[in-house]
Amino acid sequence: MPLIIKDEYPEKLFREDGKRLDGRDKHELRPIKMEVGVLKNADGSAYLEWGNNKIYCAVYGPRDVHPHYLAKPDKGILRVFYRMSTFSVFERKRPAPGRREKEISMVLTDCLEPLLFLELYPGNSFEVFINVMDADGGTRCACATVAALALADAGVPMRSLVTAVAVGKIDGELVTDLSGIEDKAGDADLPCAITWFNEEFSLLQFDGKMDLKEFDKCLILAKNALTKIHEIQLNALKNKYIAIQEEYSGGKNKK
Ligand code: CDP
Repeated sequence: MPLIIKDEYPEKLFREDGKRLDGRDKHELRPIKMEVGVLKNADGSAYLEWGNNKIYCAVYGPRDVHPHYLAKPDKGILRVFYRMSTFSVFERKRPAPGRREKEISMVLTDCLEPLLFLELYPGNSFEVFINVMDADGGTRCACATVAALALADAGVPMRSLVTAVAVGKIDGELVTDLSGIEDKAGDADLPCAITWFNEEFSLLQFDGKMDLKEFDKCLILAKNALTKIHEIQLNALKNKYIAIQEEYSGGKNKK
């Protein structure tokens, strides 16, 4: 998939053959790969490649809260740290977390919190560190998706996973899973996430313009895409245990 590295906005976001600039159909997802248990020192971890996005997530917890003043006597706390590497975007990103990273960290905390039983962990924290190594649009969605996997990999009791995707509008057409250039040069961008235990949105942001009918259609497009991505998440979790089972059975279960 070609990575558009310069912030040059093309005049059109669809090719002559009706495909998007990266060759996708309107509602086709970028290729997605996920793996859990990728970092030895974390309690849980996951790696995700989503188109040109490459993201690592490490989870620690439950553990003591530092600094202590953040601890709550009646429940645990969730802290999410979204960071983009300096080399993850075309123009070098300053290493210190900027306003955007702080905002996305907060949005991701709100997105993940409904999954956890924080009331069972007074005085403790769960910390989620997310590092975007390569960014190409939709990173907040990719981060919510990979963070849910890393929490599950850490064995944290959860109500379900959460899955996120951005839908939107480019050149007047509704599309699923916007790339970086579509996000910037398109008409509207709608990142959203569903928590599967109650099928509620735990992330819904909007940037751009569309009418109410289009908005309703976008939510249906999102639900369809999220169902497919959720399946990939579940398979990533299963694959870890299939690999362990094979290792302990001396490869006897290998097909
Ligand atoms: O990544 P996401 O779509 O959730 O957030 P955004 O703020 O809408 O950013 C869209 C894209 O712009 C990112 O995915 C990056 O590819 C790019 N970006 C960038 O090039 N430089 C930055 N400092 C921040 C974002």
